[in-house]
Amino acid sequence: MNFQNLKIETADRIAVVTLNRPEALNALNRDLLSELSTFFDQAASDDNIRVVILTGSGEKSFVAGADIKEFSHFSQKEGEALSADGQQQVFNKIENFSKPVIAAVNGFALGGGLELAMASHIRIASDNAKLGLPEVTLGLIPGYGGTQRLPRLVGRGRAAQMIFTAEMISAQRAFEIGLVNEVVAQPELLDRAKAIASKISKNSSVAISKAIKAINASGTKDGFGVEIQSFGELFEEKDFKEGVCAFLEKRKPEFK
Ligand code: CAA
Repeated sequence: MNFQNLKIETADRIAVVTLNRPEALNALNRDLLSELSTFFDQAASDDNIRVVILTGSGEKSFVAGADIKEFSHFSQKEGEALSADGQQQVFNKIENFSKPVIAAVNGFALGGGLELAMASHIRIASDNAKLGLPEVTLGLIPGYGGTQRLPRLVGRGRAAQMIFTAEMISAQRAFEIGLVNEVVAQPELLDRAKAIASKISKNSSVAISKAIKAINASGTKDGFGVEIQSFGELFEEKDFKEGVCAFLEKRKPEFK
């Protein structure tokens, strides 16, 4: 995989994807989003990848949002397309990706940057991270799913306050309100994300993909049904046989 705006390093079945536009604080322009979309399409069938970690280049910024310079002259139609294409081709694709995606938030996570972290399944922040949805300062609202995912994570009231005031919050505050799972010192961020990824990669990948599906269905009218069906389907998988055999034989399972 050869990309201009992404650096990909894969080791131990963990792909670390670094968004790499440091001159623009890793803002999401069309090319970067298109490369992210391609990466996830390819990673879906790559057996060498069990977990994906998303992070930003440098220590200052995860992602400072959608690229403002690129959409500064957009019309209504172009604005709608920006939002719809981004949601379908990147943000929803990440949320529904069959392998876990961990956002290692290493600095500013603003606008589309916070939306990218929220589309990921797990968020770990460095202690210098600053998170916010500043779109209303530009006369806009979040367009990459922020109005939908933020209320689910932190509740409507807190989401409304963050979106209406456009204020950035600290990593510690983000932890307190459930927006990030953990806060670690900046130099430890990637190691911590990799340690979580490593734990995940030892478990059954087929079970985890069903867990993602069921968790994503939570709060919908089908949620419990998706869980029942997924639970049942797993009994036909080799991983179930291996997991149960390993338990009965008092050894660690080896999932293929
Ligand atoms: N788009 C394009 N370029 C950006 C950018 C963005 N979102 N954020 C930063 N940059 C660029 C700056 O223009 C600057 O480039 P130049 O030197 O060529 O001017 C470079 O990155 C460094 O930025 P600053 O000089 O501004 O750095 P700073 O440390 O003074 O401030 C900051 C950092 C507070 C993050 C500030 O850059 C900022 O406020 N950025 C914009 C944040 C924002 O509004 N994000 C939301 C975007 S809209 C969106 O995301 C819509 C959506 O939901 C789909």
